[in-house]
Amino acid sequence: MRGIVLIFIVVFAFGFNKKALLGKELFFDKDLSLNKKVSCESCHKAKYAGGDDKRVSVGIKRGYVNSLVLFNSVFNCCYFWNGRRFSLRKAIKDAFFNSYEMGMTKELLLKRVSKYKIKFIKIYGDFKEEYIYDAIYYFFKELISLNSKFDKSLRGEVNLTKSEERGYFLFKKYGCITCHNGINFGGNSFQKLGVFLDKITIPRIEDLATITKRKSDIYVYRVPILRNIAKSAPYFHDGSVKSLKKAIILMGEWNIGIKISDKDANDIEAFLKTLNGEEPKILKEGR
Ligand code: HEC
Ligand code: HEC
Repeated sequence: MRGIVLIFIVVFAFGFNKKALLGKELFFDKDLSLNKKVSCESCHKAKYAGGDDKRVSVGIKRGYVNSLVLFNSVFNCCYFWNGRRFSLRKAIKDAFFNSYEMGMTKELLLKRVSKYKIKFIKIYGDFKEEYIYDAIYYFFKELISLNSKFDKSLRGEVNLTKSEERGYFLFKKYGCITCHNGINFGGNSFQKLGVFLDKITIPRIEDLATITKRKSDIYVYRVPILRNIAKSAPYFHDGSVKSLKKAIILMGEWNIGIKISDKDANDIEAFLKTLNGEEPKILKEGR
């Protein structure tokens, strides 16, 4: 009880970080896109753990890759499917100038953001372009989805079902964990898609080789995170796979070189569903 009272006092006395709250306003603001019809939130929705449910995202124009989840993304090593950015602030900046997402130019962005100038000056003491990305960065730091069933089971608060427990065991036994590991079950390394195939059917879109021009980086992507994965269908960079179970079976064929049985896939799916966390508090409160 004393703990709860303390949390209550902390939240209400200090509230969320002011930068984060300003970042949240910017994130939801459609005026910050070329046609004033798209906001960051258009493709990064709470319901889908900060992703969307489209095969490929549609902003100012139709894009060509599946949206990525933003919950817990602050823990990732690097950003975008091919991990081309190591800095989250830079990734946030890129989103504004991407021609199919927000479609902005620097001049237009500064003009449209000017309505927030007084707020920026109050919080930062000044107004500079980089503060736009910084405020959204602070908002992302609050986009952490806690207390998944898996986390609770590690703390001994709940028990996993037999199927979930077996799925976790298989996830380790089959070696999914060699690539999907760490705090986010992924998001911390680059790996090849289709290690065990001579030829993969999924199209090669914006892999690491498009940046490095190295042959060995063909079909190399940043390993996606599996926290909240059940909320962010469809799957893979081209969004071609609708069901999580199918994605698990394909991963077996493509990246482990095994045929995963129906029962095993069901159990792994049950385990992956235990990685669904709570909606970050800042999305519910503090507007
Ligand atoms: C049209 C839909 C769309 C809009 C609008 C959009 N995004 Fe995205 N976002 C995507 C897609 C698609 C990706 C994956 C792109 C890629 O890998 O090349 C992505 C990836 C990201 C990532 C990388 C996440 C990770 O873990 O790698 C960040 C950060 C991000 N977006 C932030 C933003 C911000 C901030 C805004 C607003 C300024 C925004 N996005 C607007 C579709 C969108
Ligand atoms: C060798 C590394 C590696 C192994 C082993 C591996 N994966 Fe993956 N996984 C990846 C990469 C890379 C991707 C991204 C593919 C892409 O570009 O679309 C991915 C994608 C996924 C996705 C889709 C994620 C999304 O956001 O769309 C799921 C689900 C998944 N893996 C689950 C598994 C499971 C379950 C196993 C074990 C059966 C497994 N993976 C084994 C590297 C691996």
